[in-house]
Amino acid sequence: MRQHIARAPAKVNLQLSVGPLQDDGFHDLVTVFHAVALFDDVHAMAAEPGAGISLSVTGVQRDLVPLDSTNLAWRAAQALANHAGVDPDVHLRITKGIPVAGGMAGGSADAAAALVACDSLWGLRTPRAELMEIAATLGSDVPFGLHGGTAIGTGRGEILTPVLTRSSFWWVFALAEGGLSTPAVYAECDRLRAGSAVAAPMLSGPLMSALRSGDASEVAKNLSNDLERAAVSLRPSLSRVLGLGEEYAALRAIVSGSGPTCAFLARDGEHALDLSVALSSAGLCRTVVRASGPVSGAALV
Ligand code: C5P
Repeated sequence: MRQHIARAPAKVNLQLSVGPLQDDGFHDLVTVFHAVALFDDVHAMAAEPGAGISLSVTGVQRDLVPLDSTNLAWRAAQALANHAGVDPDVHLRITKGIPVAGGMAGGSADAAAALVACDSLWGLRTPRAELMEIAATLGSDVPFGLHGGTAIGTGRGEILTPVLTRSSFWWVFALAEGGLSTPAVYAECDRLRAGSAVAAPMLSGPLMSALRSGDASEVAKNLSNDLERAAVSLRPSLSRVLGLGEEYAALRAIVSGSGPTCAFLARDGEHALDLSVALSSAGLCRTVVRASGPVSGAALV
């Protein structure tokens, strides 16, 4: 019997410039998403007609993942079924490799993978552009989960333009014990900036040149994240973790997205290995993983 398993990557933001809060409760962004080789798998399994959607989760931090219709993968299956006019009968089994509430878009990856896996299970052959439209209704980072690679995100983050990069980059990720809520981090960012004028976000030209040249140290110099101060404000222990980057000669250490995962850019794969050993032995984080990027977006395994 054919398996309908899709795999989607985690992301780190190479640039995350947060503009003013808009009336819809979202911030206008200019971001550069970069998909890295940490994955969640979503297995869509046939269910009896009328059974509806059900969900189970295996892998690390599975206890932190909701098993009901608040789960983004569940909402993705429902949205695809609505779009196609089919009954949403499926059991979704998610295998987590991406940290939960870690600032690496794990929930969005699950939604992207669920779209691809259910599309296959239900034999829909939905055009990619329509899957992208459904993805944008589910969350700001879900379209990128489908897209993968390296891409500029504007609007809420859902409008994507691909960026060509010359080479692969090696990262080490320090995963924290608990998660951080994305809305709480954005709210803290607003609180910290209250009273000062917030400029419209702009794409970093030097980061684009660095990505085109494939020079990891130039990329390192031009990484930026407007949510970092807010994440550190809510989780002060992150400043010690980021400080380890300098201590262990990472090219650069930044908070990934809304955190609390910290991302360290390495010179190459070997340097990433040395760095991950050093960071693990420091004992300041739950676990340390190594991953390269860019990698492709959600696809059938
Ligand atoms: O789009 P998503 O559901 O992933 O967003 C989660 C939360 O993150 C939003 O409810 C909002 O508080 C915040 N957010 C934002 N501006 C964005 C994207 C997300 O304020 N562009």
